[in-house]
Amino acid sequence: MIKTYIHLNEILTLQGAHDKDGRNLKPSDLSLIADGAIVFDDSKILWIGQSSDLPLEYRNNAINLKDHVLTPELVDSHTHVVFGGNRAQEYADRLNGMSYEDIAKRGGGILFTMTETQKLTSDELLKLAITRINSIHSYGVGTIEVKSGYGLDYQKEKELTLIIADLKKHFSPNVQIFNTFLAAHDVPRNFKSSSHYLSEVVLPLLQELAPLKIIDAVDIFHEKNYFTDADTRALFNLAQNLEIPIKIHADELNTNRGAELAVSYNALSADHLLKISDEGIKALATSKTVATLLPGTAFFLGKPLAPARKMLDQNVKVAIASDYNPGSCHCDNVLMIASIAAAQLKLNQTELWCGITHNAAHALGKFNQGVLAVAKAPRFSLFKAESLSHITYHWGKNFSVSLP
Ligand code: NIG
Ligand code: FE
Repeated sequence: MIKTYIHLNEILTLQGAHDKDGRNLKPSDLSLIADGAIVFDDSKILWIGQSSDLPLEYRNNAINLKDHVLTPELVDSHTHVVFGGNRAQEYADRLNGMSYEDIAKRGGGILFTMTETQKLTSDELLKLAITRINSIHSYGVGTIEVKSGYGLDYQKEKELTLIIADLKKHFSPNVQIFNTFLAAHDVPRNFKSSSHYLSEVVLPLLQELAPLKIIDAVDIFHEKNYFTDADTRALFNLAQNLEIPIKIHADELNTNRGAELAVSYNALSADHLLKISDEGIKALATSKTVATLLPGTAFFLGKPLAPARKMLDQNVKVAIASDYNPGSCHCDNVLMIASIAAAQLKLNQTELWCGITHNAAHALGKFNQGVLAVAKAPRFSLFKAESLSHITYHWGKNFSVSLP
Protein backbone atom coordinates (compact mmCIF):
# COMPACT_ATOMS: atom_id res chain seq x y z
CA MET A 1 0.00 0.00 0.00
CA ILE A 2 1.29 3.48 -0.88
CA LYS A 3 1.45 6.04 1.95
CA THR A 4 2.27 9.73 1.91
CA TYR A 5 3.38 11.93 4.80
CA ILE A 6 3.23 15.66 4.22
CA HIS A 7 4.18 18.87 6.05
CA LEU A 8 6.74 17.29 8.36
CA ASN A 9 8.52 20.17 10.11
CA GLU A 10 11.80 18.51 9.12
CA ILE A 11 12.94 15.36 7.40
CA LEU A 12 16.46 14.21 8.22
CA THR A 13 17.56 12.46 5.03
CA LEU A 14 21.32 12.03 5.74
CA GLN A 15 21.87 12.04 1.96
CA GLY A 16 25.13 13.98 2.37
CA ALA A 17 26.36 11.59 5.05
CA HIS A 18 25.42 8.59 2.91
CA ASP A 19 27.26 10.01 -0.12
CA LYS A 20 30.41 10.11 2.07
CA ASP A 21 29.94 6.57 3.42
CA GLY A 22 29.23 7.98 6.89
CA ARG A 23 32.74 9.45 7.29
CA ASN A 24 34.28 12.89 7.58
CA LEU A 25 30.89 14.42 8.26
CA LYS A 26 30.05 18.11 8.31
CA PRO A 27 26.94 19.73 9.82
CA SER A 28 25.46 20.27 6.34
CA ASP A 29 25.64 16.51 5.65
CA LEU A 30 22.46 16.17 7.71
CA SER A 31 20.66 17.12 4.47
CA LEU A 32 17.50 18.34 6.19
CA ILE A 33 14.32 19.08 4.27
CA ALA A 34 12.07 21.72 5.85
CA ASP A 35 8.30 21.21 5.39
CA GLY A 36 9.03 17.79 3.94
CA ALA A 37 6.97 15.09 2.30
CA ILE A 38 7.71 11.44 1.64
CA VAL A 39 5.94 8.69 -0.32
CA PHE A 40 6.61 5.01 0.23
CA ASP A 41 5.19 1.52 -0.11
CA ASP A 42 5.93 -1.60 1.95
CA SER A 43 9.37 -2.13 0.49
CA LYS A 44 10.81 1.20 -0.64
CA ILE A 45 10.72 4.98 -0.67
CA LEU A 46 9.07 6.25 -3.87
CA TRP A 47 9.44 10.02 -3.58
CA ILE A 48 10.93 12.50 -1.08
CA GLY A 49 11.18 16.30 -1.15
CA GLN A 50 9.49 19.52 -0.12
CA SER A 51 5.74 19.41 0.43
CA SER A 52 5.20 22.12 -2.20
CA ASP A 53 6.82 19.87 -4.83
CA LEU A 54 4.80 16.74 -4.01
CA PRO A 55 3.35 15.43 -7.31
CA LEU A 56 -0.42 15.69 -7.58
CA GLU A 57 -0.86 11.93 -7.93
CA TYR A 58 0.37 11.46 -4.33
CA ARG A 59 -1.66 14.22 -2.70
CA ASN A 60 -4.83 12.20 -2.08
CA ASN A 61 -4.92 10.75 1.44
CA ALA A 62 -1.60 12.36 2.39
CA ILE A 63 -1.19 12.32 6.19
CA ASN A 64 -0.45 15.75 7.64
CA LEU A 65 2.50 15.50 10.05
CA LYS A 66 2.99 19.14 10.97
CA ASP A 67 4.89 19.46 14.29
CA HIS A 68 6.72 16.18 13.62
CA VAL A 69 10.24 15.25 12.52
CA LEU A 70 11.07 12.14 10.47
CA THR A 71 14.53 10.53 10.60
CA PRO A 72 16.13 7.38 9.24
CA GLU A 73 15.24 4.60 11.66
CA LEU A 74 17.15 4.54 14.94
CA VAL A 75 19.27 1.40 15.25
CA ASP A 76 20.72 -0.05 18.46
CA SER A 77 23.53 -2.20 17.06
CA HIS A 78 24.88 -3.64 20.33
CA THR A 79 22.67 -5.05 23.13
CA HIS A 80 22.62 -8.01 25.49
CA VAL A 81 18.88 -8.12 26.34
CA VAL A 82 18.49 -11.85 27.02
CA PHE A 83 19.45 -12.34 30.67
CA GLY A 84 18.09 -13.24 34.10
CA GLY A 85 18.54 -11.39 37.40
CA ASN A 86 20.21 -8.04 37.89
CA ARG A 87 23.51 -6.59 39.14
CA ALA A 88 22.22 -3.68 41.24
CA GLN A 89 24.40 -4.75 44.17
CA GLU A 90 27.50 -4.78 41.94
CA TYR A 91 26.70 -1.27 40.78
CA ALA A 92 26.55 -0.17 44.42
CA ASP A 93 29.83 -2.02 45.12
CA ARG A 94 31.45 -0.19 42.23
CA LEU A 95 30.24 3.17 43.52
CA ASN A 96 31.80 2.16 46.82
CA GLY A 97 35.20 1.55 45.26
CA MET A 98 35.39 -1.91 43.64
CA SER A 99 36.32 -2.16 39.96
CA TYR A 100 34.50 -4.17 37.26
CA GLU A 101 37.58 -6.40 37.05
CA ASP A 102 37.70 -6.96 40.87
CA ILE A 103 34.05 -7.95 40.86
CA ALA A 104 34.65 -10.40 38.04
CA LYS A 105 37.56 -11.94 39.97
CA ARG A 106 35.34 -12.67 42.99
CA GLY A 107 32.94 -14.57 40.68
CA GLY A 108 30.59 -11.67 39.98
CA GLY A 109 30.10 -9.98 36.62
CA ILE A 110 29.12 -11.99 33.57
CA LEU A 111 29.39 -15.29 35.49
CA PHE A 112 26.88 -14.04 38.09
CA THR A 113 24.39 -13.21 35.33
CA MET A 114 25.09 -16.61 33.81
CA THR A 115 23.93 -18.29 37.06
CA GLU A 116 20.83 -16.09 37.18
CA THR A 117 20.08 -16.80 33.51
CA GLN A 118 20.43 -20.55 33.98
CA LYS A 119 17.75 -20.44 36.71
CA LEU A 120 15.11 -19.29 34.19
CA THR A 121 13.24 -21.30 31.59
CA SER A 122 13.32 -20.46 27.91
CA ASP A 123 9.81 -19.05 28.18
CA GLU A 124 10.68 -16.81 31.10
CA LEU A 125 13.76 -15.49 29.31
CA LEU A 126 11.75 -14.86 26.14
CA LYS A 127 9.11 -12.88 28.05
CA LEU A 128 11.74 -10.75 29.80
CA ALA A 129 13.46 -10.03 26.48
CA ILE A 130 10.15 -9.08 24.82
CA THR A 131 9.48 -6.55 27.58
CA ARG A 132 12.98 -5.11 27.21
CA ILE A 133 12.73 -4.86 23.42
CA ASN A 134 9.34 -3.14 23.71
CA SER A 135 10.99 -0.58 25.96
CA ILE A 136 13.85 -0.01 23.46
CA HIS A 137 11.32 0.28 20.63
CA SER A 138 9.31 2.86 22.59
CA TYR A 139 12.16 5.37 22.06
CA GLY A 140 11.86 5.00 18.30
CA VAL A 141 14.46 2.27 17.75
CA GLY A 142 13.33 -0.11 14.99
CA THR A 143 16.37 -2.32 14.40
CA ILE A 144 17.98 -4.00 17.39
CA GLU A 145 20.99 -6.30 17.59
CA VAL A 146 20.65 -8.91 20.33
CA LYS A 147 23.55 -11.04 21.58
CA SER A 148 23.47 -14.40 23.29
CA GLY A 149 26.20 -14.97 25.89
CA TYR A 150 24.76 -15.47 29.36
CA GLY A 151 24.06 -19.20 28.93
CA LEU A 152 27.69 -20.30 28.84
CA ASP A 153 27.07 -24.01 28.56
CA TYR A 154 26.18 -25.91 25.42
CA GLN A 155 22.45 -26.33 26.07
CA LYS A 156 21.77 -22.91 27.53
CA GLU A 157 23.73 -21.04 24.85
CA LYS A 158 21.82 -22.99 22.21
CA GLU A 159 18.59 -22.02 23.95
CA LEU A 160 19.57 -18.32 23.95
CA THR A 161 20.29 -18.29 20.21
CA LEU A 162 16.92 -19.98 19.60
CA ILE A 163 15.21 -17.41 21.85
CA ILE A 164 16.69 -14.60 19.75
CA ALA A 165 15.40 -16.35 16.62
CA ASP A 166 11.94 -16.40 18.26
CA LEU A 167 12.28 -12.71 19.09
CA LYS A 168 12.99 -12.03 15.43
CA LYS A 169 9.76 -13.80 14.39
CA HIS A 170 7.76 -12.16 17.18
CA PHE A 171 8.75 -8.60 16.25
CA SER A 172 8.95 -8.87 12.45
CA PRO A 173 8.48 -6.70 10.43
CA ASN A 174 7.94 -3.73 12.78
CA VAL A 175 11.15 -4.26 14.68
CA GLN A 176 14.06 -6.00 12.97
CA ILE A 177 16.08 -8.22 15.31
CA PHE A 178 19.69 -9.13 14.44
CA ASN A 179 20.86 -12.40 16.04
CA THR A 180 24.49 -12.33 17.26
CA PHE A 181 26.13 -15.49 18.60
CA LEU A 182 28.25 -14.48 21.62
CA ALA A 183 28.80 -17.84 23.32
CA ALA A 184 32.42 -16.66 23.75
CA HIS A 185 31.45 -14.04 26.34
CA ASP A 186 33.21 -15.43 29.44
CA VAL A 187 34.81 -18.69 30.53
CA PRO A 188 32.77 -20.66 33.09
CA ARG A 189 34.77 -21.87 36.10
CA ASN A 190 34.41 -25.57 35.22
CA PHE A 191 36.61 -25.19 32.11
CA LYS A 192 40.37 -25.17 32.56
CA SER A 193 41.00 -22.46 29.97
CA SER A 194 39.32 -20.25 27.40
CA SER A 195 40.51 -22.52 24.59
CA HIS A 196 39.06 -25.54 26.42
CA TYR A 197 35.64 -23.82 26.64
CA LEU A 198 35.93 -22.67 23.04
CA SER A 199 36.62 -26.14 21.70
CA GLU A 200 34.01 -27.85 23.92
CA VAL A 201 31.16 -25.37 23.58
CA VAL A 202 31.56 -22.38 21.27
CA LEU A 203 32.91 -23.96 18.08
CA PRO A 204 30.81 -27.16 18.05
CA LEU A 205 27.66 -25.20 18.91
CA LEU A 206 28.29 -22.74 16.10
CA GLN A 207 28.75 -25.65 13.75
CA GLU A 208 25.49 -27.23 14.91
CA LEU A 209 23.46 -24.01 14.64
CA ALA A 210 24.89 -22.59 11.41
CA PRO A 211 22.77 -24.77 9.09
CA LEU A 212 19.60 -23.36 10.73
CA LYS A 213 20.53 -19.98 9.18
CA ILE A 214 19.38 -18.06 12.25
CA ILE A 215 22.74 -16.55 13.23
CA ASP A 216 23.42 -13.14 11.69
CA ALA A 217 26.94 -12.68 13.14
CA VAL A 218 29.42 -14.08 15.65
CA ASP A 219 31.03 -12.02 18.40
CA ILE A 220 33.67 -12.62 21.10
CA PHE A 221 34.94 -10.81 24.21
CA HIS A 222 38.59 -10.47 23.06
CA GLU A 223 40.16 -9.34 26.34
CA LYS A 224 42.75 -10.21 28.97
CA ASN A 225 41.30 -12.90 31.30
CA TYR A 226 38.52 -13.64 28.80
CA PHE A 227 39.43 -14.77 25.23
CA THR A 228 42.87 -14.69 23.60
CA ASP A 229 44.02 -13.84 20.13
CA ALA A 230 44.23 -17.53 19.25
CA ASP A 231 40.67 -18.16 20.51
CA THR A 232 39.42 -15.23 18.49
CA ARG A 233 41.14 -16.39 15.31
CA ALA A 234 39.75 -19.91 15.76
CA LEU A 235 36.20 -18.54 16.06
CA PHE A 236 36.61 -16.10 13.15
CA ASN A 237 38.14 -18.76 10.88
CA LEU A 238 35.17 -21.02 11.51
CA ALA A 239 32.73 -18.15 10.99
CA GLN A 240 34.38 -17.31 7.67
CA ASN A 241 34.12 -20.94 6.56
CA LEU A 242 30.44 -20.87 7.47
CA GLU A 243 30.01 -17.47 5.76
CA ILE A 244 28.77 -15.79 8.95
CA PRO A 245 29.72 -12.12 9.46
CA ILE A 246 32.01 -11.13 12.32
CA LYS A 247 31.78 -8.65 15.20
CA ILE A 248 34.10 -8.25 18.18
CA HIS A 249 34.27 -6.71 21.67
CA ALA A 250 37.64 -5.04 21.14
CA ASP A 251 40.13 -3.00 23.18
CA GLU A 252 37.61 -2.39 25.96
CA LEU A 253 39.62 -2.79 29.18
CA ASN A 254 43.14 -3.07 27.72
CA THR A 255 44.92 -2.30 24.44
CA ASN A 256 44.80 -5.73 22.79
CA ARG A 257 45.13 -4.99 19.05
CA GLY A 258 41.46 -5.97 18.81
CA ALA A 259 40.64 -3.31 16.21
CA GLU A 260 43.51 -4.53 14.00
CA LEU A 261 42.29 -8.10 14.33
CA ALA A 262 38.76 -7.02 13.39
CA VAL A 263 40.02 -5.29 10.25
CA SER A 264 42.13 -8.27 9.22
CA TYR A 265 38.92 -10.37 9.24
CA ASN A 266 36.85 -7.68 7.50
CA ALA A 267 34.53 -7.57 10.53
CA LEU A 268 31.23 -5.71 10.33
CA SER A 269 32.20 -3.81 13.47
CA ALA A 270 34.69 -3.53 16.31
CA ASP A 271 32.92 -2.43 19.48
CA HIS A 272 33.95 -0.57 22.67
CA LEU A 273 37.49 0.62 21.72
CA LEU A 274 38.07 2.57 24.96
CA LYS A 275 41.75 1.56 24.76
CA ILE A 276 42.27 1.48 20.98
CA SER A 277 45.84 2.20 19.82
CA ASP A 278 46.89 4.66 17.12
CA GLU A 279 47.62 1.67 14.87
CA GLY A 280 44.10 0.39 15.53
CA ILE A 281 42.64 3.73 14.47
CA LYS A 282 44.73 3.69 11.27
CA ALA A 283 43.59 0.16 10.49
CA LEU A 284 39.91 1.04 10.95
CA ALA A 285 40.21 4.24 8.90
CA THR A 286 41.10 2.36 5.71
CA SER A 287 38.65 -0.50 6.26
CA LYS A 288 34.94 -1.13 5.96
CA THR A 289 34.73 -2.12 9.63
CA VAL A 290 32.51 0.22 11.66
CA ALA A 291 33.86 1.45 15.00
CA THR A 292 30.95 1.09 17.41
CA LEU A 293 31.33 3.25 20.49
CA LEU A 294 29.37 2.48 23.65
CA PRO A 295 29.72 5.62 25.75
CA GLY A 296 27.03 4.47 28.20
CA THR A 297 29.41 1.71 29.29
CA ALA A 298 32.27 4.12 29.97
CA PHE A 299 29.84 6.35 31.92
CA PHE A 300 28.49 3.38 33.87
CA LEU A 301 31.94 1.96 34.67
CA GLY A 302 33.47 5.37 35.35
CA LYS A 303 36.14 4.87 32.66
CA PRO A 304 37.58 7.40 30.19
CA LEU A 305 35.65 7.53 26.93
CA ALA A 306 36.92 6.17 23.61
CA PRO A 307 39.01 8.67 21.59
CA ALA A 308 36.11 9.43 19.29
CA ARG A 309 37.33 12.75 17.88
CA LYS A 310 40.67 11.27 16.94
CA MET A 311 38.95 8.41 15.15
CA LEU A 312 36.46 10.66 13.34
CA ASP A 313 39.20 13.05 12.24
CA GLN A 314 41.06 10.14 10.67
CA ASN A 315 38.03 9.05 8.64
CA VAL A 316 36.87 6.14 10.77
CA LYS A 317 33.20 5.21 10.30
CA VAL A 318 31.72 5.57 13.79
CA ALA A 319 28.45 4.24 15.21
CA ILE A 320 27.03 4.64 18.70
CA ALA A 321 25.10 1.89 20.49
CA SER A 322 23.76 1.32 23.99
CA ASP A 323 25.46 -1.96 25.04
CA TYR A 324 22.35 -2.45 27.20
CA ASN A 325 23.21 -5.29 29.61
CA PRO A 326 22.81 -6.01 33.33
CA GLY A 327 26.41 -5.29 34.30
CA SER A 328 28.39 -2.69 32.43
CA CYS A 329 25.54 -0.49 31.11
CA HIS A 330 22.07 -0.92 32.48
CA CYS A 331 20.52 1.70 30.21
CA ASP A 332 18.33 0.80 27.22
CA ASN A 333 17.93 4.26 25.67
CA VAL A 334 20.52 4.68 22.90
CA LEU A 335 19.17 8.09 21.88
CA MET A 336 19.64 9.42 25.40
CA ILE A 337 23.12 7.90 25.63
CA ALA A 338 24.14 9.47 22.32
CA SER A 339 22.59 12.83 23.27
CA ILE A 340 24.57 12.96 26.51
CA ALA A 341 27.76 11.59 24.97
CA ALA A 342 27.87 13.89 21.95
CA ALA A 343 29.31 16.88 23.80
CA GLN A 344 31.84 14.68 25.65
CA LEU A 345 32.92 12.82 22.50
CA LYS A 346 32.98 16.13 20.55
CA LEU A 347 30.57 14.89 17.89
CA ASN A 348 28.90 17.32 15.55
CA GLN A 349 25.16 16.92 14.98
CA THR A 350 25.60 14.87 11.80
CA GLU A 351 28.05 12.50 13.50
CA LEU A 352 25.57 12.03 16.33
CA TRP A 353 22.58 11.19 14.10
CA CYS A 354 24.54 9.22 11.53
CA GLY A 355 26.04 7.19 14.41
CA ILE A 356 22.67 5.94 15.65
CA THR A 357 21.06 5.44 12.24
CA HIS A 358 23.13 5.05 9.04
CA ASN A 359 26.43 3.84 10.50
CA ALA A 360 24.71 1.66 13.10
CA ALA A 361 22.72 -0.03 10.31
CA HIS A 362 25.98 -0.61 8.41
CA ALA A 363 27.46 -2.19 11.58
CA LEU A 364 24.76 -4.83 11.05
CA GLY A 365 25.38 -5.17 7.32
CA LYS A 366 22.08 -3.40 6.57
CA PHE A 367 23.12 -1.13 3.72
CA ASN A 368 19.64 -0.45 2.38
CA GLN A 369 18.55 1.74 5.29
CA GLY A 370 19.93 4.67 7.25
CA VAL A 371 19.33 7.21 4.50
CA LEU A 372 15.97 8.53 3.31
CA ALA A 373 16.23 8.40 -0.46
CA VAL A 374 14.26 6.94 -3.35
CA ALA A 375 14.57 3.13 -3.58
CA LYS A 376 15.89 2.75 -0.01
CA ALA A 377 13.98 0.77 2.64
CA PRO A 378 11.08 2.67 4.26
CA ARG A 379 12.53 2.34 7.75
CA PHE A 380 12.17 5.56 9.71
CA SER A 381 11.56 6.98 13.18
CA LEU A 382 8.97 9.66 13.85
CA PHE A 383 9.20 12.23 16.63
CA LYS A 384 6.66 14.79 17.80
CA ALA A 385 9.10 17.65 18.02
CA GLU A 386 9.54 21.12 16.64
CA SER A 387 12.89 20.35 15.02
CA LEU A 388 15.65 17.74 14.94
CA SER A 389 17.65 19.75 17.46
CA HIS A 390 14.84 19.55 20.03
CA ILE A 391 15.07 15.75 20.12
CA THR A 392 18.63 15.57 21.47
CA TYR A 393 18.46 18.90 23.32
CA HIS A 394 16.05 17.52 25.92
CA TRP A 395 18.14 14.58 27.24
CA GLY A 396 16.08 11.50 27.91
CA LYS A 397 12.67 12.97 27.01
CA ASN A 398 10.86 10.56 24.77
CA PHE A 399 9.60 12.36 21.63
CA SER A 400 9.03 9.14 19.66
CA VAL A 401 5.54 8.43 18.29
CA SER A 402 4.25 5.48 16.25
CA LEU A 403 4.12 5.76 12.49
CA PRO A 404 0.56 6.44 11.26
O1 NIG B 1 29.73 -5.33 26.33
N1 NIG B 1 32.32 -6.58 27.59
C1 NIG B 1 31.70 -7.62 27.62
N2 NIG B 1 30.39 -7.76 27.66
C2 NIG B 1 29.48 -6.78 28.13
C3 NIG B 1 29.42 -6.75 29.59
C4 NIG B 1 28.46 -7.71 30.06
C5 NIG B 1 28.31 -7.75 31.54
O2 NIG B 1 29.05 -7.13 32.33
O3 NIG B 1 27.40 -8.49 31.88
C6 NIG B 1 29.83 -5.44 27.53
O4 NIG B 1 30.16 -4.48 28.23
FE1 FE C 1 28.71 -5.77 24.88
